[in-house]
Amino acid sequence: MQICKTKDYDDMSRKAANIIAAQVTMKPDCVLGLATGSSPIGTYKELIARYNNGDLDFSKATSVNLDEYKGLPGDNDQSYRYFMNHNFFDHVNLPKERTFVPDGTEPDADKACDAYNQIIADVGGIDLQLLGLGHNGHIGFNEPADCFPPVTHCVDLTASTIDANKRFFDSEDDVPKQAYTMGIGNIMLARKIVVVVSGADKADILKKVVEGPITPEVPASILQLHPDVTIVADEAAAAKL
Ligand code: GLP
Repeated sequence: MQICKTKDYDDMSRKAANIIAAQVTMKPDCVLGLATGSSPIGTYKELIARYNNGDLDFSKATSVNLDEYKGLPGDNDQSYRYFMNHNFFDHVNLPKERTFVPDGTEPDADKACDAYNQIIADVGGIDLQLLGLGHNGHIGFNEPADCFPPVTHCVDLTASTIDANKRFFDSEDDVPKQAYTMGIGNIMLARKIVVVVSGADKADILKKVVEGPITPEVPASILQLHPDVTIVADEAAAAKL
């Protein structure tokens, strides 16, 4: 694991964008695995700025997102499809028909997950996966569990994740209780992984992820086994490393 310590959130966002920009420059038809949450928003802003100044061209790229709430359509402003449109896709020339997010409107979980695994296979796997880190060590919506789920599946969100995400909804009751998420296997097969981590509230979990035992109780700890992971963390998040 490479640890890249940065001054603050903006510095983290620039450094993460540097890595993604290099990927898109070297392989314009790359497959980017993308993430939601507050951590990557600055990275998307940086990438948009570089697109606007002519440094980046996404016209040949494809994206596959990590996860989506079950039950939320793409026009719901809390869906991850909406988040991605709003924070990234609407501002760059990545063709919309090549931006994939699990289908939250498909009520049949097996159907939704099988279809998404097929999409990941059809695009040829992921060249670079961008990840945030949940407070309990989750990546995508792979919550602490007693095994590492291999492929896209339907998860029951934990109380701590519902609690962390309720700030975005009118009330806790409105937070969906289930989501479709890529599995740990899908993520580990990405050829390169970049994790953005920011803030003092992530310092304890980041230490466990990087230095603790590899266990499904801390899903992101499995990244220790990946050959090409860069953790871009600001000073506050990296304080305990
Ligand atoms: C959500 C997402 C994750 C994200 C996590 C952390 O649960 N499913 O992909 O990494 O939140 O979010 P944040 O970056 O806002 O702390």
